[in-house]
Amino acid sequence: MPSYVITGANRGIGLAFVRQLSAKPDNVVIALVRNVGTVDELKSLNRSNVHILQADIGDLASLQRAAAETAKITGGSLDVLINNAAMLPNERDALPLDGYPAGQEQLLADDLVALFTVNVVGVAHTINTFLPLVKKGSLKKVIVISSGAGDLDLTLASGYETSGPYSISKAAVNMAVAKYAAEYKPQGILFLAISPGLVDTATRALTAKELEDAKKMVTKFKKIAPNWERPLTADESVEMMLKVFDDLTPENSGAFLSHKGNKEWL
Ligand SMILES: NC(=O)c1ccc[n+]([C@@H]2O[C@H](COP(=O)([O-])OP(=O)(O)OC[C@H]3O[C@@H](n4cnc5c(N)ncnc54)[C@H](OP(=O)(O)O)[C@@H]3O)[C@@H](O)[C@H]2O)c1
Repeated sequence: MPSYVITGANRGIGLAFVRQLSAKPDNVVIALVRNVGTVDELKSLNRSNVHILQADIGDLASLQRAAAETAKITGGSLDVLINNAAMLPNERDALPLDGYPAGQEQLLADDLVALFTVNVVGVAHTINTFLPLVKKGSLKKVIVISSGAGDLDLTLASGYETSGPYSISKAAVNMAVAKYAAEYKPQGILFLAISPGLVDTATRALTAKELEDAKKMVTKFKKIAPNWERPLTADESVEMMLKVFDDLTPENSGAFLSHKGNKEWL
């Protein structure tokens, strides 16, 4: 009975992980959500192997409670931890790092700290809290959903100068994954940072400004992927990522790979 914990599981890519993993009745899937009031889609799966628990990755006590509940469900172990939850870019994402308006420089510091706090500190706290269970699991895998935005080569080759605070947080979490992999290689615990590709998880129509910014970003990305046509659906992305998880070995533990299992980010 392989067991999975997924953070940020109520929508988007996290929900698709729950949907696909729980389709196998043998899997035990523990969906961590920030707000148990927004789980209609999770509940509508109506699967007895899905367990919904509350946890905000920015709140260590909530993670500790969720880990204790998880241990009760699984008998004290966990096979795969999927760190999917993240703070996504905000309305200043289209600004380069030196483009914050004069007089609002503090906002750059605020954005850097806020994204780092959730996307790096929150992920490290989640891993540290669930590691004792993973150590007792059979598969012993810890996955972090990162982003191609955190890749230096993509940034330089495409001229992708915006999305600084978000990209910096993802580059930092990739290093955290490498550190854990280095530490836990002797114990056979495998770590992976993976980008899901560009995935359509929007829950509302984009504003004209958001559409314009998205078009500019795609124009840049087309420099490195001229044949790229459209964003993936969450289910397409998750199907591809699950194959990469299966191929994780001690040799590539700690790597930062795309949904294709390589360094093609789109
Ligand atoms: N979509 C893409 O194209 C893309 C590309 C590259 C990387 N990614 C990465 O893929 C992952 C999922 O992205 P997505 O597109 O599915 O995003 P999404 O639809 O915006 O969902 C984000 C999820 O994270 C949760 N979350 C946010 N902050 C949290 C916190 N402090 N504690 C617990 N949960 C929290 C959200 O919960 P609430 O519903 O409560 O807000 C939501 O469930 C993220 O790590 C993202 O950086 C996505």
